[in-house]
Amino acid sequence: MRARVFSGIQPSGQLHIGNYLGALKNWAEIQGRYESIFCIVDLHAITVYQSPAELSKKIRETAALFVAAGIDPEQSSIVVQSSISGHAELAWLLTCVAPLGWLQRMTQFKSKAEKQETIGDGILQYPVLMAADILLYQASIVPVGEDQSQHLEFTRDLAQRFNSLYGETFVMPATNLPAVGARIMGLDDPAQKMSKSETSAGHAIGLLDEPKAIQKKIARATTDSQSAVDPGSMGPGIANLFTIAQACDGSITKDRVAGMRYGDFKKLVAEAVIARLEPIQRRYREITDDPSHIDQLLEAGKERVLPITHDTVAKVKRAMGLFVR
Ligand code: TYM
Repeated sequence: MRARVFSGIQPSGQLHIGNYLGALKNWAEIQGRYESIFCIVDLHAITVYQSPAELSKKIRETAALFVAAGIDPEQSSIVVQSSISGHAELAWLLTCVAPLGWLQRMTQFKSKAEKQETIGDGILQYPVLMAADILLYQASIVPVGEDQSQHLEFTRDLAQRFNSLYGETFVMPATNLPAVGARIMGLDDPAQKMSKSETSAGHAIGLLDEPKAIQKKIARATTDSQSAVDPGSMGPGIANLFTIAQACDGSITKDRVAGMRYGDFKKLVAEAVIARLEPIQRRYREITDDPSHIDQLLEAGKERVLPITHDTVAKVKRAMGLFVR
């Protein structure tokens, strides 16, 4: 049996170049080597309020972007989390095994709890649902960006705890980070991770941004007081642009950009990003020409993976002594 890969993206906000370089690009590259399942994690998205009309549009848009970015629906299963009841079911079973202290220590929970006066229970439970996503498929490889590392550690700890309480049940999943682009920073603030929830205009490059908008955002990206690229000591803004360029076009090396004036360097970065996104945007337009195509593809993905999810849920229930016929 081939090792299984699982990963997911929330259908909230606009997918950006960080999601592509940190996750989607890597998924497309490794999908042929494993049995791959890629998920639109809408149950995670609703841990903060989403407009229902917007969310149902975003779910399909995200699926179309998966395909446009190179996920081949013949080779990989593309699924929607909420369409497969095993995700929520396993999440409850794991909730009963998850120590509250572990959840309260998670960085994402702590930072959201600090910012908001009232915080939904879903934010606290978020890592349990994510562990359920991965363990439901007995995935051994999880390709993600660096910001998900703590969640993956939590998943392994929880799987181990379950296994030691109820007997060997879950496969231990390994984190798989891309060699370049595991952490893309905001263009407007290179100290902050590029994020879907940050809405200021110059922050992120959207996967569907027009070439002109991309040029403008990169031209305005925050740099430093130097005027030419010094590969030996790049400031965080220039280093981030270099990572983006290199991840988009492997022929862009430190040697090649050494001594370039910032204006010229930014033009090179913009060209590399535009060239990378152009075929993705073209395929996106082709795919979304026929809206029923995406629904069919999501239905087919679901049918393909359902037996795996039924097996795992039954195995877990049996291990816990619950009623299984
Ligand atoms: P999400 O939707 O925030 O991000 C999706 C993927 O994109 C990566 N990513 C980045 N990579 C590099 N630089 C960035 N600035 C950047 N921003 C985002 C993320 O690391 C991720 O791989 N909790 C997850 C979704 C999830 C999941 C799962 C992932 C739910 N269940 C099971 C893996 C396995 C999340 O919110 O990703």
